[in-house]
Amino acid sequence: MPALNDWVAQVAALTRPSAIQWCNGSDAENEALIARMLADGTLEKLNEQTHPGSYLHRSHPDDVARVEHLTFVCTTHHEDAGPNNHWMAPEEGHAEMDALFDGCMQGRTMYVIPYCMGPIDSPLSRCGVEITDSPYVVANMRIMTRMGAPALARIEREGSFVKGLHSIGELDPNRRFIMHFPEELMIKSYGSGYGGNALLGKKCHALRIASHQARSEGWLAEHMLILGIENPQGETHYVAAAFPSACGKTNLAMLIPPEGYRNAGWKVWTIGDDICWMRPGADGRLYAINPEAGFFGVAPGTSAKSNANALASIQKNTIFTNVGVTADNQPWWEGLDNGQTPVTDWRGNAYDATKGPAAHPNSRFTVSAKQCPSYSPKAEDAQGVPISAIVFGGRRASLVPLVFEARDWTHGVLVGAAMGSETTAAATGAVGVMRRDPMAMKPFCGYNFADYFSHWLSFDTDGAKLPKIFHVNWFRKGDDGKFLWPGFGDNLRVLEWMIQRVKGEAAAVETPIGALPAEGALNLEGIALGDEAKAKLFGYDRAGWQAEFSSIGEYLDEYGPRMPQALKDEQQRIAGM
Ligand code: GDP
Ligand code: PGA
Ligand code: MN
Repeated sequence: MPALNDWVAQVAALTRPSAIQWCNGSDAENEALIARMLADGTLEKLNEQTHPGSYLHRSHPDDVARVEHLTFVCTTHHEDAGPNNHWMAPEEGHAEMDALFDGCMQGRTMYVIPYCMGPIDSPLSRCGVEITDSPYVVANMRIMTRMGAPALARIEREGSFVKGLHSIGELDPNRRFIMHFPEELMIKSYGSGYGGNALLGKKCHALRIASHQARSEGWLAEHMLILGIENPQGETHYVAAAFPSACGKTNLAMLIPPEGYRNAGWKVWTIGDDICWMRPGADGRLYAINPEAGFFGVAPGTSAKSNANALASIQKNTIFTNVGVTADNQPWWEGLDNGQTPVTDWRGNAYDATKGPAAHPNSRFTVSAKQCPSYSPKAEDAQGVPISAIVFGGRRASLVPLVFEARDWTHGVLVGAAMGSETTAAATGAVGVMRRDPMAMKPFCGYNFADYFSHWLSFDTDGAKLPKIFHVNWFRKGDDGKFLWPGFGDNLRVLEWMIQRVKGEAAAVETPIGALPAEGALNLEGIALGDEAKAKLFGYDRAGWQAEFSSIGEYLDEYGPRMPQALKDEQQRIAGM
């Protein structure tokens, strides 16, 4: 295909690799890459008896998370990127990046990776090609995307694809940039090997570029997990939920029902744990696909108790990044709780509890979705699944109750736009600082948030059968600083209330922020909640919310006249209640 061949030739002329390898995604190709990485120390083999086909990668210690301050959206007009993005003019961005890429692959192999985001036969899927000098990126992209020959065939048929150019460069934080050129469907990423910065199909393509593309094509590219809830009657409802990075998407997507629910016949099916592409179907409902083929999950905290499905998924054929290891070479992280102890930390040093955790807080596993026991066969469906409810949520120690329901679509868009969350280790910078993270897309929306909210509002057309919108907070804390809600499997209780609301079956109390579960409407059988917990999880704090709403108003105003009036009116209406 000329457009692809020309681009590969141009990149090779700029970066001057010693060899070019087109990746077909075969087992033989993967085995050769792994052998190469074992030889040069990029990977270490883990215990073959306990973790067959699994490897450990230790990144550069300064390269362990996404770098939001070095991530740019380069649109012709600055306002199109919005105050939510760092911006550079496209010519300037290209010049800056091309200077870094000049000769950067000398002595290295350049890999060309054709990939498809979404089932290979789905009209909702989109393709891309990543060029990289990192075999670790190739091995991860093989797990996270549909990579290789079938993707190349689709690209040749369609003629268009997202171009992603990546080099680990010198892994120097001072020579590191992640730039997006949405008008050209192009990504340039230099100086980092970390997942969110380097696996360009993921956050760069499937969120930043795709959100821009989705706006012009009438669909949504969202930072959402997708799960199916099958009730004892055998009906399955699909829910999409947006939580910021390291705020519980992977855990909710793989939820295991509490025992009582399990015995009664409830099942939860995983479709995706991070990204959701959806668009209206002929019947007016929103249909969603998971564009990814694997999970790039946070290791710490993953245990048989918190997320048994994730733990079962990662027993074989898994790449672990920045975890600790035990004396017999098994991967280890804080919260694994399997009775073992680490001897080596994520840097490769002898483990010393006084010097910090054995696993980096943002250490990760990369694994094929097919290995997840709860993986839904519907995840491979070209048409996607119909969404009954959309959930927004953040990490909020105070104010925000366990769950509330938006009045209608416009109010729901405001609930998403007003989301706040405490920062986590998934990005570099301070942890635990509350910031606005609308729809969990602050680091990922490829255009002006004001235009993004307008796009969301535009789905409310005659004939649309839109999902109900909810907000949750699993992270409310008591006066003692401990979480008040047990979370994890017990989150199914909240999902059950939502589905009952969708069907018009559960009772609620109206408040200015939306409908809260009426006393007794949300099943709390089998869990012990004290009076403080009940008051904080199910209560409405009028004074606190008035302060919150004035801060939300100020936030919307930062976007000036581009902010849709309907959203400002909605904020005013609630602020006045
Ligand atoms: P993701 O990055 O959004 O996919 O987040 P994860 O599902 O990987 O979870 C990130 C962190 O939040 C992990 O340490 C989890 O143990 C923790 N977590 C997830 N769900 C819950 C919950 O319901 N309650 C509490 N307290 N913690 C949770
Ligand atoms: P997540 O994203 O934390 O939302 O799983 C992965 C990343 O940081 O790239
Ligand atoms: Mn995750």
